[in-house]
Amino acid sequence: MKSKVSVIVFLIVVGFVHQSTGYRGAVFQPTYQASNYPSSNYPGALRDPFEVICRWKTLSFRDPPRAPQDKLAGNDYYIEKSNVPTGFSRHGPTKRIFVTIPRRNPGISSSVNFVYEDECRNGSPQLRPYPDYATNELEPNLEADIGRIISVYRPTVDVCHRLWFVDTGILEYPPGNKTVIQNPSLWIFDLRFNRVIRRYTIPDRLYGVEGVGLISLTVDTNPYNCDDAHAYMPNLELKNLLVYSLRRNDIWAVSHPFMQPDVNNMNYELDGLKFGFPDGIFSVALTPGSQDRLAYFHPLASLQEFSVPTHVLKDKSLSPDRYAPGDFKDLGVRGVKAQSAIHDIDQRGILYYTEIQTNSIKCWNTRTPLKAENVGTVYENAETMVYPNDLEIDPEGDIWAMSNRFPIFIYRGLDPTDYNFHIVRGRRDLVGLNTVCLPAGDPDAIIFGP
Ligand SMILES: *[C@@H]1O[C@H](CO)[C@@H](O)[C@H](O)[C@H]1NC(C)=O
Repeated sequence: MKSKVSVIVFLIVVGFVHQSTGYRGAVFQPTYQASNYPSSNYPGALRDPFEVICRWKTLSFRDPPRAPQDKLAGNDYYIEKSNVPTGFSRHGPTKRIFVTIPRRNPGISSSVNFVYEDECRNGSPQLRPYPDYATNELEPNLEADIGRIISVYRPTVDVCHRLWFVDTGILEYPPGNKTVIQNPSLWIFDLRFNRVIRRYTIPDRLYGVEGVGLISLTVDTNPYNCDDAHAYMPNLELKNLLVYSLRRNDIWAVSHPFMQPDVNNMNYELDGLKFGFPDGIFSVALTPGSQDRLAYFHPLASLQEFSVPTHVLKDKSLSPDRYAPGDFKDLGVRGVKAQSAIHDIDQRGILYYTEIQTNSIKCWNTRTPLKAENVGTVYENAETMVYPNDLEIDPEGDIWAMSNRFPIFIYRGLDPTDYNFHIVRGRRDLVGLNTVCLPAGDPDAIIFGP
């Protein structure tokens, strides 16, 4: 998307959705008005465009129904050091930030949770379960129960006020021991009424023996028609991409060699720790618009970025691998040590990605060839961005990211007296300015200005 017009159209569309879906639960209040931002010649404009919105030393829960030492399925109900957030997504109109904790350790009281953004101002808020504790509680003997949420990595809120996430259906503890409780499932909640609107069990033929590997999802919603929505769900273990159509209530898998990890780039170093994650396809980012979008994707173990048109992904008849030469494109290499977890693309076509070895968020303008010289650093911080594991751009254009020090947690243990988990926001009129992604004089640099 290249023009100011497209952004204006987008904003009108979002406004339309708010009205047409009868959204009355809360008045839509953008967190920032464009006029509240300092203009680019304001002295503050050279400040760090990112600020910490929420941070925690450890996670705890608000008004839990059980004591921490209560035994549930053979473990304590709550074990402080087990609770490491892996994903987040924000619902702007109600200022809720959803925070998810996969059950990779015992003692996680609730996997899907939220905090109110305003609560973060006064310290580190306790998590509130979503939709409630009962839905997030394990059965006493780990019986299967499709009414319960077992383990969720990363949620996504879409433009139609819906929360989407994949429950893997498995416990991953102790390390190396995976307990399949039930098939993975896709959940969709209506955030206006906090009700489940769809729970879809992912069939065995698509996930092999266990739901492990379903660690993110990207939702492709037509803002003119909320029923016209697809979820793209990478599986880093099976190295394929699941596509779910909301309207057809159907699912299929997409396979391509570009989804495989690059064995030459599966080793990482962070804070003196050396580790290997041989993960395949990890995240999908969509170009702006509602039709004919491109899906950009990468494996975690990779320096490359790839693309495929969404109309190809949405065509079930091509599944799993009847694709034409050229449907899938190799876009280039981001640079050295440039392995990335999650990425997203803004309305100007600038792609932002979390770079896991460098405590940073990088940018690349998708109108330029992908190579190291065209990649810029928009945020780098050895305290607040240690292992940036999730990222999203909100409908107003601000960039949000979460870091969780995950490799340090696994291999060394976290220091509970230090702030270990951060959610930061980068302001849309400041992020990327004067980088190669948005050089001085680029008309897009003032797109959100007053
Ligand atoms: C694996 O996890 C299950 C469920 O928590 C538990 O019953 C079992 O003892 C564990 N196995 C090992 C080897 O720890």
